[in-house]
Amino acid sequence: MFLDVKGLKINYRTVYGNLEAVKSLDLSVEKGETVAVVGESGCGKSTLGHSLVRLLPPNAKYEGKVILDGKDVFALKGKALRMYRGGEVFMIFQDPLNSLNPVKRVDDQMLEAVGMREQIAGREFDREDALKDIIDGLNGVRMPDPEVILRRYPHQLSGGQIQRIVIAMALVMKPKLLIADEPTSALDVTIQAQVIKLIKDLKKEYGMSVIFITHDMAVAYTIADRFLVMYAGQLSELGPVNDVVSKPLHPYSVALVNSIPNKSRKEGKLVAIPGSPPNMLAPPTGCRFHPRCPQVMDICRTEDPLEKEVGGRLLRCHLFD
Ligand SMILES: Nc1ncnc2c1ncn2[C@@H]1O[C@H](COP(=O)(O)OP(=O)(O)O)[C@@H](O)[C@H]1O
Ligand code: SF4
Ligand SMILES: [Mg+2]
Repeated sequence: MFLDVKGLKINYRTVYGNLEAVKSLDLSVEKGETVAVVGESGCGKSTLGHSLVRLLPPNAKYEGKVILDGKDVFALKGKALRMYRGGEVFMIFQDPLNSLNPVKRVDDQMLEAVGMREQIAGREFDREDALKDIIDGLNGVRMPDPEVILRRYPHQLSGGQIQRIVIAMALVMKPKLLIADEPTSALDVTIQAQVIKLIKDLKKEYGMSVIFITHDMAVAYTIADRFLVMYAGQLSELGPVNDVVSKPLHPYSVALVNSIPNKSRKEGKLVAIPGSPPNMLAPPTGCRFHPRCPQVMDICRTEDPLEKEVGGRLLRCHLFD
């Protein structure tokens, strides 16, 4: 298995107490596979992504094991960690502004990243070739006037332009694992479709694996091989996209799938999920989804369901005990 996550637990220390953002998560991703991580805001998607690139904030405590291409990711230190971040993984952050250095011109920082990758790969760095790759990347994300954009500083760019620069960077870096956290949220629909096509091409051409984080089920459906549905820091359901969409089993997946806009569904029939995600500082007892679940049973209020394999999927719900 290319990526193996076992028993991942991530807690944040906060002034209000301990917040369990990811509670015992297992996930395997194959080479060239795309897993979409879906779920409402606050369910731990970005936290999961940050842990995989070892960029959790200082108030986070983590345990469990992450093995990527044979490397024990949580054990990496110093140069090995820098090489991992610069050459093997790349994360498109949900807030792309934080991905760029505010005091460096765009071309300088893109060239620096490519230079680092070439050094890690033991190849000679050719500035002209790298610049050509970068411009190709920017053309790929339909950036008008890439040469002009490259000479700017981040504060001279719009949010949409920055998002495209960061996506172009991912295309240029060609990591083994791309973690894309809501990468298309600030882009219009045409550019969004183009970006998804580019990610799919990279995956085909280089066998790149992708963890695509989104709250948008329709976008996830167009890119992913499997869905990981998360609720309040836990796995609800993990399975092949077509299975989950055509026959969602977990009541939360059912609610999410009903929220996908679908041509065959009549206009105006989009079903919003009643209620809201829990306060993660004091999550509900038992199944964390129980206050919102239409199929809630007595046991759900007191006992947290265990993960079970059901017909090639993983599920965490008492209905499948
Ligand atoms: N740096 C942090 N310190 C404390 N709590 C955090 C921090 N980052 C995220 N959280 C909390 O962790 C939970 C999961 O957040 P996040 O991973 O950002 O979810 P998502 O990406 O699914 O919206 C939320 O309750 C959020 O408020
Ligand atoms: S365990 Fe119970 S409350 Fe939770 S999703 Fe299943 S049926 Fe609903
Ligand atoms: Mg997020």
